[in-house]
Amino acid sequence: MPLIDPVLLKSRLGLLAGRFDVDAFEECDSTSSELMRRADLGAPAGTVIVADRQSAGRGRRGRQWLSAPEASLTFSLLWRFSGSPARLAGLSLAVGVALARALEGLGAQGICLKWPNDVLLRQGDDYAKLAGILVELASDRRGIQAVIGIGINLSAPTVELPQPVAGLDQAMAALPERHLVLAAVLSALAGVLDAFAVDGFASSKNEWQQRHAWQDAAVQLLDDGSAPLLGRCAGVDADGALLLETASGMQRIFSGDVSLRRA
Ligand code: BTN
Repeated sequence: MPLIDPVLLKSRLGLLAGRFDVDAFEECDSTSSELMRRADLGAPAGTVIVADRQSAGRGRRGRQWLSAPEASLTFSLLWRFSGSPARLAGLSLAVGVALARALEGLGAQGICLKWPNDVLLRQGDDYAKLAGILVELASDRRGIQAVIGIGINLSAPTVELPQPVAGLDQAMAALPERHLVLAAVLSALAGVLDAFAVDGFASSKNEWQQRHAWQDAAVQLLDDGSAPLLGRCAGVDADGALLLETASGMQRIFSGDVSLRRA
């Protein structure tokens, strides 16, 4: 029996239950891969795949995403948009806002966002990764499909990882039961994605910036194969591009396929 019971989750979703169709697995390769296969077969927007364990969980930039069943919440949500893919600029940042809103609504403190789509927990002067977001887009005859994959650390992973990591249990006095966490995140996503369908990332930009971990910080942008770009993080624009003030002027960085470090 998987750790998430779709019937119990529906009851936690209340009035929004009808907008989601949830399937829970003890194990699958990747919830996003499983959801893409279902999307190809015509699964509706609002389909959610949640798994206790992924044998081939995917992270950004071709990395693996490792998670332990009891310590994490890993799921993917299918959403559909009309119009051209250009309208979806900033979608992964908007998803970060939904996550932050949901976790704060549950009582978490110190939640911050890092461009393009990391959810961090402030720990003194440092930050540790609390959740990851992977948005994968494809077009079909119905418009654009977005497979939104989210991995949340409910407690900090114990495996050695290249960056500091944190658990949601470090952000609040008592960790809510996992169905409540998932219901809060799905509810916040419905609100943010509805607004995004109308106004794009402009609808979430201010909220994103309020939580920006590295606002005004000196950073370096690493792109495979080129020299690091140094600058000051000046926030994001309405397309979700990172504004980097460099020696040669303000640059707008669109590709999330880069790595951002504090200088
Ligand atoms: C990142 O690299 O920060 C993004 C990680 C996204 C991981 C989630 S877990 C659920 C979904 N299924 C996957 O295979 N990846 C995403």
